Amino acid sequence: MASSSRYVCQECGHAAHKWMGKCPGCGAWNTLVEEKPESDVKARVPKSTSSSNGRTSNPPEPITEVALGPETRLQTGMVEFDRVMGGGIMQGSFSLIAGDPGIGKSTLMTELARFMPERTILYVTGEESKRQVKLRAQRLGVDTDRLLLLAETNVEAIGQAVRSCEPDLLIVDSIQTIFRPDLSSAPGSVSQVRESTASLLKMTKEDEFSTFLVGHVTKKGTIAGPRVLEHMVDTVLYFEGDRHHAFRILRSVKNRFGAANEIGVFEMRESGLHEVPNPSEIFLSERGYGVSGSAVICSLEGTRPILVEVQALVSPSSYGTPQRTATGFEYSRLQMLLAVLEKRIGLAFSDHDVFINIAGGVKLNEPAVDLGTAVAAVSSFRDVPTDTNAVLIGEVGLGGEIRTVSQLGPRLKEAAKLGFDRAVVPANNLDSTTAPDDLDVIGAKTLQDALDTVL
Ligand code: TYD
Ligand code: MG
Repeated sequence: MASSSRYVCQECGHAAHKWMGKCPGCGAWNTLVEEKPESDVKARVPKSTSSSNGRTSNPPEPITEVALGPETRLQTGMVEFDRVMGGGIMQGSFSLIAGDPGIGKSTLMTELARFMPERTILYVTGEESKRQVKLRAQRLGVDTDRLLLLAETNVEAIGQAVRSCEPDLLIVDSIQTIFRPDLSSAPGSVSQVRESTASLLKMTKEDEFSTFLVGHVTKKGTIAGPRVLEHMVDTVLYFEGDRHHAFRILRSVKNRFGAANEIGVFEMRESGLHEVPNPSEIFLSERGYGVSGSAVICSLEGTRPILVEVQALVSPSSYGTPQRTATGFEYSRLQMLLAVLEKRIGLAFSDHDVFINIAGGVKLNEPAVDLGTAVAAVSSFRDVPTDTNAVLIGEVGLGGEIRTVSQLGPRLKEAAKLGFDRAVVPANNLDSTTAPDDLDVIGAKTLQDALDTVL
């Protein structure tokens, strides 16, 4: 029996019985789209996933008796990429790589073939023609007949191709173009994305190859399609960076086979993506010396400490409401820091515009970068340069106190490696940390202590 249609939010996947202007699930406007009744969709979900269809039983097993096969990871040889994947691509893994259009997702995926010319890679292109993909591959110097191109958007046809060529790696560029012919909704809609992903996931796990889905992000920075996509995959990678900058950062936001938040740094050049093995050096290379409003911070990205310059510009506002802009830094965190500086240090930021920029197009959201950001703001406010040989590490609390950070040791090592003489760190971290010999480590209890040291 035809049950009535349902309306599914394209942002969050919330389903409603009638159309509404505003999604009750996530509050987004005009995102509800009519879709087939759920019962129809359910009926088409492969029966084998259901446990109640009389198949032979699948009894629970003691954990001690679960057989562990050898863990096989496919090492691509692209060091930055392998690190983000947790030491290589796990066999049978299902990953999503998301990012803004034009950031370099297709380039990165094509480059994999250059690093692994002996592996069979099936590249399904739903957005570009084979010719376009070939031109890109030529530009990248990819020249292997093990890279197989398929211009296709139908999941069933992809399944056939997979069975016939048995790839080591399947790349689907992009998941938003793929559709299941038995569903009536358009490619890119929540149900198509979800169901096509489910079909691809099943293929991947059954035949034990590895799959990368390329996904677009919406204006708000979330992966277009339902959040469920993130739950379905083993690994979610974000490819980010400022399109006007050459640097690109590949970040694992979820990884069932390795540390989350691990990053790989690349530089986009004419000839493709080049690995950046020493990101701190690059991020600091354009640093201005003797200029106010600049400080060096150390952020831990996954397991990797990275030194970056934070720049601040503070100037009297010409209008009633002061402007605040944060690039690469969390806006609400900036407002909090300015409120703390106003209340605890007594600086009148409320009639000043404040611009914060993390140099190199990196996005940081670790609390340990607070201290450096606050110091950069004060440095610009007073127009006094900070000590250029010092690195600042610490979280700032609402009372103006400097709070402990994790993994101080590796951060200090990185600072010493890059030739810094001094590090201002949370005083409470000192007991539990061994500092490198050639680094003068100064503990700060409050923001005022830190300001007295470097300004
Ligand atoms: P692309 O991989 O097509 O991005 P996405 O798949 O994320 O949409 O790459 C887009 C940009 O990268 C494009 O503007 C051109 C640039 N690019 C280079 O600078 N060098 C190169 O070698 C390649 C292949 C692309
Ligand atoms: Mg692309």
